[in-house]
Amino acid sequence: MDIENEPVTVLGLGAMGTALARALLRAGHPVTVWNRTPARAEALVAEGARVAPDPAAAVAAGALTVVCLLDDAAVAAVLDPLGEDLAGATLVNLTSGTPEQARDAAARLGHLGADVLAGTIMVPTPLVGTPDALVLYSGAGGVHEEHRTTLEVLGRTDYLGADPGRAVLFDLGMLDVFFAGMASFLHAAAVVGRDGISGADFAPYAEQVVAILPATFRGLAADVDAASHPGDEDNLVMNAAALAHIVAASRSRGVDPAVPELVHRLAQRAIDRGHGADGFSRLVEEFAPA
Ligand SMILES: NC(=O)c1ccc[n+]([C@@H]2O[C@H](COP(=O)([O-])OP(=O)(O)OC[C@H]3O[C@@H](n4cnc5c(N)ncnc54)[C@H](OP(=O)(O)O)[C@@H]3O)[C@@H](O)[C@H]2O)c1
Repeated sequence: MDIENEPVTVLGLGAMGTALARALLRAGHPVTVWNRTPARAEALVAEGARVAPDPAAAVAAGALTVVCLLDDAAVAAVLDPLGEDLAGATLVNLTSGTPEQARDAAARLGHLGADVLAGTIMVPTPLVGTPDALVLYSGAGGVHEEHRTTLEVLGRTDYLGADPGRAVLFDLGMLDVFFAGMASFLHAAAVVGRDGISGADFAPYAEQVVAILPATFRGLAADVDAASHPGDEDNLVMNAAALAHIVAASRSRGVDPAVPELVHRLAQRAIDRGHGADGFSRLVEEFAPA
């Protein structure tokens, strides 16, 4: 069979599962779908998808089955009862969760005889199937290799290694950075907003700071990997003083200082332990003590 046209099954037709199925249909793949609530398949049938009567028939129809359900409990509810019907199946589990859940699902389904590639979708539904989409994968490397052409229909694929939990671990790390960045921007917007400065007036200055973060991250990463935290360019005592100013300016404006206060507390704790002359990267050891 021409692998470029291999039949693909999609289990789960929520917003994301529907976007995945649609991208595969657009690329010319025969697509079989199944969803707990059958009505959600109707639009895709009009676009050429076939509906399977149950999950077992759906899995049997695809060379590859993409699983995109709400959470791991839903994956267990749909797939675990299939038992031996999963023997020899190739599953690409794009359901979000924790690394532990991804590992557990891969072990459970692997025990039933399936090859499981775990993945995590890093973009919202409108970007699925475009060159801007990114999907991280880990787990069964053979599945990634063999079906790469099909997976590339969904977006750029990055394979991160044999541990099925690793893709989701990277996902959570990226979201950690994203949420902290957004929360810090909103906190800063609240502080300057109290003095009548609009978000739009402040945003270009926030962007100025964001522009130096890529190089800053690379420097912090090198320090973290070397477990060395030189403070020759800037040290924790100086950083803590700046953080105290942010906390004070927040308080005096009636703005909740929780975000900078947390960072200040970590810096102060490191100083109290005798690390005041170290650089900011020392905080990694406050988050994760040896
Ligand atoms: N939407 C996004 O932008 C986005 C982006 C990245 C990653 N994701 C991830 O993609 C996955 C799906 O997201 P989504 O946006 O498609 O969610 P959704 O629209 O809420 O759809 C949830 C899907 O899970 C099914 N489901 C839930 N509980 C079930 C159960 N106990 N048994 C069988 N099926 C069950 C639902 O079936 P019914 O239709 O029958 O309720 C539906 O197909 C999630 O893990 C999400 O984190 C989503």
